[in-house]
Amino acid sequence: TKKVAVLTSGGDAPGMNACIRAIVLACERADYSVLGYMHGFNGLLHQEYRLLDGRSVHNLIQQGGTMLRSARCKEFEGREEAKRAADNLRQLEVDTLIIIGGDGSFRGAVHLSQFWEGQLLGLPGTIDNDIQGTDVTIGYHTAIETAVTSIDKVRDTADSFERIFLVEVMGRRAGFLGLNAALASAADYVILPELFESEEQTLEAIMQQLTKRRRERGDVSYIIVLAENLWPKGVNDLAEQLTKLTESEVKPVILGHVQRGGSPVSQDRLLATRLGAYAVSLVGSDISGIMIGECHGKPVKVPLPSTWQKRKPLDEFTVSTMESLMNNRYA
Ligand code: F6P
Repeated sequence: TKKVAVLTSGGDAPGMNACIRAIVLACERADYSVLGYMHGFNGLLHQEYRLLDGRSVHNLIQQGGTMLRSARCKEFEGREEAKRAADNLRQLEVDTLIIIGGDGSFRGAVHLSQFWEGQLLGLPGTIDNDIQGTDVTIGYHTAIETAVTSIDKVRDTADSFERIFLVEVMGRRAGFLGLNAALASAADYVILPELFESEEQTLEAIMQQLTKRRRERGDVSYIIVLAENLWPKGVNDLAEQLTKLTESEVKPVILGHVQRGGSPVSQDRLLATRLGAYAVSLVGSDISGIMIGECHGKPVKVPLPSTWQKRKPLDEFTVSTMESLMNNRYA
């Protein structure tokens, strides 16, 4: 029989619990024992874990966050730390370690693989969807849903006051969340890292579109979605600049960590369940050092470094749809 360990690391994402559940249940069926390391890589360093079985994951699939807790563990970058983690895994006789997280977590996995001979599998869990080699990541669909629902609410008040709002969404350095949230909430303009040219160009394009809109329709509400970490002096600076240019008060709204929480939507539960169960089907094989993702509805195995070495591009079809409806470039 085999011993499987699982941990969640980096930014938590809705659906991580669903994934843990699938792993535990699949292990039970295969007669493997399974334990969960707590607090990401910290649990590995400090041998902090709990044994898991069907009962521990009952009523879990719909819960946001992660029952194993998560963390970003700077300490783990050290050689001594990774060696200690490897010793801890050996001491517990773990055969397979499954890591649910984003690229930082996968880098941690590769670092650990220099010192540990066991089987390492990664599963993509992040609201940012910025992992190369998989169409989507666990948590991404729920985060879009949360952002869309929030922007819908902003729209109600924006309409009532005929006001301009600037809504900042998460995504780290990627525009997946911003693009899809903007399109699905019928935002008027979206500023994304992948399409960003310059501050001047952006301001000019917004002003051009807004002026036209005002000429045609009079006072209007107007919603701009901005991806985080993009505007050089931050969202408040952009709101101030737009206030001057538009001669009306532009209200900034930062959606923030709200986007990380909540019960996972069914797409995330299903993706998490498929990937978790599939990972367990590979336990005991010689496949290691890979992420299991999903492309066109099929499981794929991607060497861990390939998940971060190239920037994952936005979906072209979605971008062109956005451009045709949102007039996001110079007219
Ligand atoms: O990677 C998920 C994410 O929520 C990003 O969208 C965001 O940039 C980052 O994590 C925020 O990290 P923290 O919760 O550590 O502030």
